[in-house]
Amino acid sequence: MKMLTPKEIMDELNRYIIGQEKAKKAVSIALRNRWRRQMIPKELRDEIAPKNIIMIGPTGVGKTEIARRLAKLANAPFLKIEATKFTEVGYVGRDVESMIRDLTELAVNMVKKEEQELVKEKAAILAEERILDILLPSVKRQQETEGTAEQGDSSREKLRLRFREGKLNERLVELDVPERALPIIEVFSASGIEEMDMQIRDLFGNILPKKTKKRKMKVKEAYEFLIQEESKKLIDMDKVVKEAIERVEQSGIIFLDEIDKIARRDQTHGPDVSREGVQRDILPIVEGTTVTTKYGMVKTDHILFIAAGAFHMSKPSDLIPELQGRFPIRVNLDPLTKEDFYRIITEPENALIKQYKALLKTEDVELEFEKEAIEEITDISQRINEMTENIGARRLYTVMEKLLEDISFSAPEKKGEKFTITKEYVRNRLGEFLEKEDLSRYIL
Ligand SMILES: Nc1ncnc2c1ncn2[C@@H]1O[C@H](COP(=O)(O)OP(=O)(O)OP(=O)(O)O)[C@@H](O)[C@H]1O
Ligand SMILES: [Mg+2]
Repeated sequence: MKMLTPKEIMDELNRYIIGQEKAKKAVSIALRNRWRRQMIPKELRDEIAPKNIIMIGPTGVGKTEIARRLAKLANAPFLKIEATKFTEVGYVGRDVESMIRDLTELAVNMVKKEEQELVKEKAAILAEERILDILLPSVKRQQETEGTAEQGDSSREKLRLRFREGKLNERLVELDVPERALPIIEVFSASGIEEMDMQIRDLFGNILPKKTKKRKMKVKEAYEFLIQEESKKLIDMDKVVKEAIERVEQSGIIFLDEIDKIARRDQTHGPDVSREGVQRDILPIVEGTTVTTKYGMVKTDHILFIAAGAFHMSKPSDLIPELQGRFPIRVNLDPLTKEDFYRIITEPENALIKQYKALLKTEDVELEFEKEAIEEITDISQRINEMTENIGARRLYTVMEKLLEDISFSAPEKKGEKFTITKEYVRNRLGEFLEKEDLSRYIL
């Protein structure tokens, strides 16, 4: 697959994220560097450590959004996870190594899908034969015992034709499907569900005979199912796993969101103690260590980490120094301006206004926004952010929802109508919130 250039990555991100040029630029370069590294001869390649990034910016300005969009572009195993999910080793909960296991699982699925795609045609041919076998069991048996092959062949070919034309799609057939007969594992999972899962599945998965059960389904469905089954048989899982681990080690990316939440504030005692523990646990993974997964050992030396946090209550310097040092690139995201707000609700492909228009269109109601109305919306959102908490672009969501509440409610009774949102409409609906701070604090 083609690797995007930094500019192309930037262009893609621009379709969804307004402003934040510095952050977009940093992640674009980081992504491209993954590919560049691959092109370098091995000796030097191993020396090039990824330049981990930390994105800092107030809440609701696009940190997580950048990660989400990046994930789609990465074309590499990409895991986004909240740092707050982890607990220190020894405590009940997810240990940090699970992120490497998750990433590996993800990569295995990714490679498996690609391989399946490659054998798709072959699998389809085999699946067709199996469908015909099921539909014509008697003929098959006859063939084997009496050798009336010719007769069997012709009816088989006729059936094949009808199958290809889709005429048999609705017919019911019976298939053996594997039964998911794994015992409930949570019962004894104090040391982490996935670990148990991994051990038990591997232990018993191979010893216990694979149970199957009969299930009736339509030919069409059965065909899809058999394609899946045949393609599984056609791909070499050992190869898939090897390739997947290679990808994780060489080009894997982990996005650690909410990293500020595990930064210590002041040296308080109490429930916060294990946060620093989590940071210490993360250290070796970022630095480079080997993690055991059910697919084998995975080295983390070259996995790229992008961390993000609002650092509203804490500062990056509240992270333990060793961890700070492992994120050499810092980018600040800017607070959003009124102009940014305007662009955010109108421009991106998933822009709020587009969303509402599409939603109401399903009720056959047309929605129009005058330019002044949108300006008023952004103005009000900005002012409420100033008056109460600044929650960034998320304010637009609450404001828009309130603004369109009545129209949304009555839309089914207003089929065929068109609503034009004017500045006055916005003022009428939302003006009172501006006058009363309390109101906006609770409602918007
Ligand atoms: N720069 C932006 N461009 C477009 N949309 C944005 C931007 N910033 C925020 N949004 C919108 O606001 C929502 C919240 O943003 P996001 O989840 O990225 O916040 P965040 O920076 O991760 O905040 P937090 O620190 O609270 O996690 C997003 O779903 C997105 O729709
Ligand atoms: Mg976020």
